[in-house]
Amino acid sequence: MTLASLPDVSPGLLARIASDIARSAGELILARRGAGVSVAATKSSQNDVVTEADRESERFIVGELRAARPDDAVLGEEGAGVAGSSGITWVVDPIDGTVNYLYDLPAYTVSVAATVSDPAACADGRRAIAGAVYNPRTRELFEAWEGGGARLDGAPIRISGKAQLATALVATGFGYSSERRAEQAAAVARLLPLARDIRRIGSASYDLCLLAAGRLDAYYEVGLKPWDYAAGVLIAREAGAALIGRDAATPPGEPGLFAADPALAETLRSIVLTG
Ligand code: IPD
Repeated sequence: MTLASLPDVSPGLLARIASDIARSAGELILARRGAGVSVAATKSSQNDVVTEADRESERFIVGELRAARPDDAVLGEEGAGVAGSSGITWVVDPIDGTVNYLYDLPAYTVSVAATVSDPAACADGRRAIAGAVYNPRTRELFEAWEGGGARLDGAPIRISGKAQLATALVATGFGYSSERRAEQAAAVARLLPLARDIRRIGSASYDLCLLAAGRLDAYYEVGLKPWDYAAGVLIAREAGAALIGRDAATPPGEPGLFAADPALAETLRSIVLTG
């Protein structure tokens, strides 16, 4: 589905909705954090935690989206699955960086994206047309809509544009299974001697926004889920980043996502996947 076939949709308006909801949900989880946090459940492994605040944030976001856009579908990390008829699916991470949230490290976000069907855009078959990522600890609001550029707190942002790995600050992330982590550790061992340095910040959406703002030169990860990257990919792309997948035939997403200046993204892909 293309924007042209969605007659009543203004991406700028969708971005405003995403921003308002991400900010409100962010303030909600920050307030809950003040009262203390504990693990409510674990998911794929003992390291993959969910807190009561993840669930409350998702319930809040779904309620707000249903009120603002009753015909849209919603897909959330904590299980929200609302059907819709408009062609738009909101992809929501109620807390991206849950382990940081648990430890009160100031790098967690709420990520909200409006997506349309587009198998060529990302590996999950969707393309974000508007989105927002809000970090309640820093009160930074990143937002973008397709063709409208990327913004941080209303001001335009651009990637650094650095193409050389030797002087690039590269961020990555790790999955929750031991097998995947062993592969990821091997990739970091290949990469670290060749780069300026590596960061593991702990929130994929925030990594993509920091890349968009030129505070990182590159970001890659294997194993991401759509809610981790939906809004962040749009924000990074609108800030000038190339987003590539595992190979030419596979768009960025769970099998692999490399985001940077185009030449640097290619360099990273070849090093990370050659193992
Ligand atoms: C995780 C974070 C992390 C990334 C993981 C994600 P969650 O999301 O984005 O940085 O490395 O792959 O699962 O579990 O905190 O929502």
